[in-house]
Amino acid sequence: PAAPQHVWNVEYILWAPDCKQHGMIGINGTFPGPTITANAGDFITVVVNNKLHTEGVVIHWHGIKQIDTPWADGTAWISQCPINPGDTFTYKFKADKAGTFFYHGHFGMQRAAGLYGSLIVLDGDDPLKKEPMYAGELSMLLSDWYHEPVYAQAVGLERKDDHFQWIGEPQTLLLNGKGQFGCTLGDVGNFHKGITKCDRNDGEGVEAACDQGCGDGEMELEAEKKVCEDEKAANCSVIRRGECGPFCRETQCGPVVFDVKPGKTYRLRIASTTSLSALNVQVQGHKLTVVEADGNLVEPFDVDSIDIYSGESYSVLLSTTAAKQGSSSPASYWISVGVIGRTPRTPPALAVLRYTGSGPELPAGEPPATPTWDNVTRSKEFAKRLKAREGHGYQPPPPETKGAHRTIVMLNTQELFDGRIKWAINNVSLSLPDTPYLGAYAYGIPGQVYFNTTPAPGAFDSKYDVEKPPQEQDPAAVLPATVSDQVHSLKHGEVVDFVLQNADMRKDNVIESHPWHLHGHDFWVLGYGEGRCDPVRDLKNETLINTVNPPLRNTAVLFPHGWTALRFVADNPGVWAFHCHIEPHLHMGMGVVFAEGMEGKERLQELRDNVPREAIMCGKTALAAMAARPLA
Ligand code: C2O
Ligand code: CU
Repeated sequence: PAAPQHVWNVEYILWAPDCKQHGMIGINGTFPGPTITANAGDFITVVVNNKLHTEGVVIHWHGIKQIDTPWADGTAWISQCPINPGDTFTYKFKADKAGTFFYHGHFGMQRAAGLYGSLIVLDGDDPLKKEPMYAGELSMLLSDWYHEPVYAQAVGLERKDDHFQWIGEPQTLLLNGKGQFGCTLGDVGNFHKGITKCDRNDGEGVEAACDQGCGDGEMELEAEKKVCEDEKAANCSVIRRGECGPFCRETQCGPVVFDVKPGKTYRLRIASTTSLSALNVQVQGHKLTVVEADGNLVEPFDVDSIDIYSGESYSVLLSTTAAKQGSSSPASYWISVGVIGRTPRTPPALAVLRYTGSGPELPAGEPPATPTWDNVTRSKEFAKRLKAREGHGYQPPPPETKGAHRTIVMLNTQELFDGRIKWAINNVSLSLPDTPYLGAYAYGIPGQVYFNTTPAPGAFDSKYDVEKPPQEQDPAAVLPATVSDQVHSLKHGEVVDFVLQNADMRKDNVIESHPWHLHGHDFWVLGYGEGRCDPVRDLKNETLINTVNPPLRNTAVLFPHGWTALRFVADNPGVWAFHCHIEPHLHMGMGVVFAEGMEGKERLQELRDNVPREAIMCGKTALAAMAARPLA
């Protein structure tokens, strides 16, 4: 079955996602981009017209496996050439299974420039719909927003020596592309102790940050002002109380309101495409039942809040309480989204869950406070509660590890490379070639060099001390640091275990969480451990490793001072990225590339037949493409 074809113009737009107008990348004139809804098994066709005058573009379909269509994965220099300004590229791929996904730019830091949207794949046979029947779906795409253009951010990250400029904390958290810079809809005095809502590093001064809202000059879009003014009086759906309103529901930065009926169960889909922030989501007065992670059903469990890292998605069931007998005023409740994992300097995002019949007022009471930002133990406990849903055939257990099988250990470090700060995996920092790998395999001329063909290192020295920064290591224990485009080659059908190993950054005891995302596959999250992993010992330890019902996911978190073990089957030929989903980290080289099943005459011929010529019209394959299939 084919879903309708989507035609998208990717273009620069002026938009005010947090009430301050900026240049962004939008699709068909809006931000976020249009939501794609399809049924499992559908082919999704998206015709992308690049209307950006000065840069190429690609779109990645995050969570879609791209079975038989590795060229449609939308990763610049990996699966295709960036689409040039003025050019068109057609993505056509199968929605391989139901789930909560999203799409985003995957070239430079275009995702952080606003190039993203939701991708929801429905399934009529979804067991969720049969068991705890849900009355409706609500969808929440989370992101964080910086006022500094991504081009400046990228240059800052690339500068040498002491000129390096970190991107800092975002100015605003966005929920479905909407936020309120410098203020929040509710009273959040209790949110982050010691950090007032206006204390932030926006480079524009504290006053500027506090002085926001309709009609005070910060709303620069004429249309915005108009809407604000028109709605200010009586018919504004939601009126902001306090010093920085009113915000109208209808504006670009207006509050997000979810309308629900009392006494029903809803499926709330939550996905995060933040540039940096790890988030925690809560709904005032409601428990959440987690049922899906990254498009895979999990054994349901109840929580007060969920943690969500960039690249992850969840579905939670939310039951609205029945209208109280005799009470005539149904309520509305706060949905709050706050930063965890880093000292929060960004006010929480707030939205409203509004029961039918309740008035336009904002919910009563304080929005629920974000849990202590540095409580990693709580985050780990949440991650460990996820187990594959039993009994629906959705999630097979991981295969046995006898026979063809290998383990790749990946040490995550931050190091200096020729005066530049970079992230490295086993001392190799990823830089992409100027010929897309997939094209190089499909159209490559034997003997011609397209990228560094030395296999990427799959281990690090046993004497490396993960509790010490790289510069304090015994030099003999550190592989020479390189910036390279080398890949891991995987044989078709190989069962691969990864161990992501965290380590100190360039300062003693400074260490971060990293959400690692794999393209083209789901992996089983086998387990998490503390300290340094000894694969031979720890991967057999049943108290650490779950091979019975581990969850299948496409993103998993590497927590500070520990390791994360994953397994996948290399059954999807293509060239796939595996990287930290934090945008500036990827930009600083935090990723690896797998060339999977790129072997055998037949498979390469098949690729050559399937990879669209436009996907390889750059770098060293441009000429090969013309020679192979001349213009008609
Ligand atoms: Cu959503 Cu390569 O990422
Ligand atoms: Cu990272």
